[in-house]
Amino acid sequence: MKNHTKIVVIGSGAVGSTFAYTVLLKGLANELVIIDKNRDKAEGDALDLNHGLLLAQPMKIYAGDYSDCKDADIIVITAGAAQKPGETRLDLLQRNVSIYHQILSEVTKFNQDAIFLIATNPVDILTYISIKLTNIPKERIIGSGTLLDSARFRYLISEKIKIDPRSIHGMIIGEHGDTELAAWSLLNIAGINQVKADTTSRCYLSPEDKEEIYQQTKNAAYQIIEKKGSTYYAIALSLARICEAILHDQKSILPVSTYLENYKGIRDVCLGIPSIVGKNGVEEILDLPLTSEEEEKLLHSAQQLGNFIRQIQL
Ligand code: 2OP
Repeated sequence: MKNHTKIVVIGSGAVGSTFAYTVLLKGLANELVIIDKNRDKAEGDALDLNHGLLLAQPMKIYAGDYSDCKDADIIVITAGAAQKPGETRLDLLQRNVSIYHQILSEVTKFNQDAIFLIATNPVDILTYISIKLTNIPKERIIGSGTLLDSARFRYLISEKIKIDPRSIHGMIIGEHGDTELAAWSLLNIAGINQVKADTTSRCYLSPEDKEEIYQQTKNAAYQIIEKKGSTYYAIALSLARICEAILHDQKSILPVSTYLENYKGIRDVCLGIPSIVGKNGVEEILDLPLTSEEEEKLLHSAQQLGNFIRQIQL
């Protein structure tokens, strides 16, 4: 790991400020810069976090402007219009594309070497747009993808079968949104998969269980937004997990949103696919042994995103 690490977070709304707090709690970097169009909000957050320094980890935290992106290892973008109750992530699209246009043209004046971590929704499309709007190599622009969905998925399975979610290996892949899919064929609990699991086994999930878990995973954000307006704790932890993999060069396999050039026939779109994440960003996209039904669903997810991408005015 480098001697000095620096994270910049752009956007100090619910997700950005919770992420900043997570960075402090985990002691993830030596320097944390908060940038927001509302400078007072960024300064207020920086002050509030600094007042906790003594009780957490030594770190330099301050409100900055785009020039402070210089020398950053990771630039996390959470800025954008928020999803309203009942609104799909894709509804947000055009509004956030123009916000990204402004942000990226400023940031890239000061830093083209960082890893860019995109969190704003619709995250797969904004990851794609960020690649198209900049000359940053695609490996270094990563979306939070389906890491959060996969965490929700594993939590829900763990609740059903009462096994620690860390011992349940499974993933949601595709769009972070309505066309995402559960890669059921790859679910693995101590080597026991759903094909091998005896119906009497604790690890067995019935078709009804699977459908319920998938629907709850897919609709989790809607449910939370309905209840409290937005989601931020689990996404902040997901972003922190990706930063940790990058800063510590962990080569972790995480289902982040990444640019697909030719993945099972899918081209020119960003989707959540398990990838090896380390100091250079996405180092390898794994070729998953999916069933033909799962491949079809993934293709459908890619096509949906492709349709939206074609409607964007850059
Ligand atoms: C989430 O899934 C809204 O994308 C956000 O929590």
